[in-house]
Amino acid sequence: MDTIIVRDIMKLKIHLESLNILKRSIALIPTMGSIHKGHLQLVKHAKKHSDCVIVTIFVNPIQFNDKLDYLNYPSKEEEDIKMLEEEKVNLIFIPSKKEIYPIDYATYVTVEKYQDIMCAKFRKNHFRGVSTIVSRLFNLIKPNIAIFGEKDFQQFIIIKKLCYDFFLDTKVHSIATVREKDGLAVSSRNSKLNNKQRILSVLVYKSLNTAAKLIETGHSPKKTCMNLSRDLIKKGFSKVDYFEARNESNLELLKDFEYVKARIFIAVYIGNIRLIDNIKVNFINLHKA
Ligand code: PAF
Repeated sequence: MDTIIVRDIMKLKIHLESLNILKRSIALIPTMGSIHKGHLQLVKHAKKHSDCVIVTIFVNPIQFNDKLDYLNYPSKEEEDIKMLEEEKVNLIFIPSKKEIYPIDYATYVTVEKYQDIMCAKFRKNHFRGVSTIVSRLFNLIKPNIAIFGEKDFQQFIIIKKLCYDFFLDTKVHSIATVREKDGLAVSSRNSKLNNKQRILSVLVYKSLNTAAKLIETGHSPKKTCMNLSRDLIKKGFSKVDYFEARNESNLELLKDFEYVKARIFIAVYIGNIRLIDNIKVNFINLHKA
């Protein structure tokens, strides 16, 4: 079956109506395009859990706190379509900005929890933009499941909360971060790194692993992350927005000697390219130390 490409909401509704009549379950993967192997893993997961996979491609202007970042966001629509067609995605929805935010658009959604930490603290209104577009897509498409990558873990937690608070039926799934061979988390932004920056970028995952090992063997989460942040700056990173260990379920900062399910989160700048990543802390190792 060929992949259907739809650019306007009216046509999308017609396709959704026929899927509804046929009682097909829908998996939605919202993206901002620049499709990479991380997205393709989301598609593979979607195929296993639904009859029909819909991918949306829309660079959502209202989630960018920096206009230049929005204007420079990588875009390669033709290639994206080809990659998704090869994965046999059923439908790709590529709306225009006018279609999603008409001139009189006025409704925004904010999940008020988790707004003063990590990416929310450093990117004003970012998650308001994400929650708004995701709500709009969920209301329009009414997917049975929606799938997100764990690289954007705070986004995943916020979307889960949004669905819970608004009684949305969509089940929110996450899949593990896909990495390059040297550990760098796959991201659309990686294409902006020059050779020197790409070499430096490996230290993001390396530092996360060093932090995890130290915290797993009883070192203070706060001190460990602080020291490793300093090292990153010394090695040439332009800025560390945050480097912290947090409880995985409520995103509270991990205290010393607190052995709960946790993750270490990082956001750094190399030049003006912002990279984020996170990994799990595995306290099993504490007993081996
Ligand atoms: O993760 C992303 O690419 C975006 O934040 C999303 C979920 C597609 C909303 O624009």
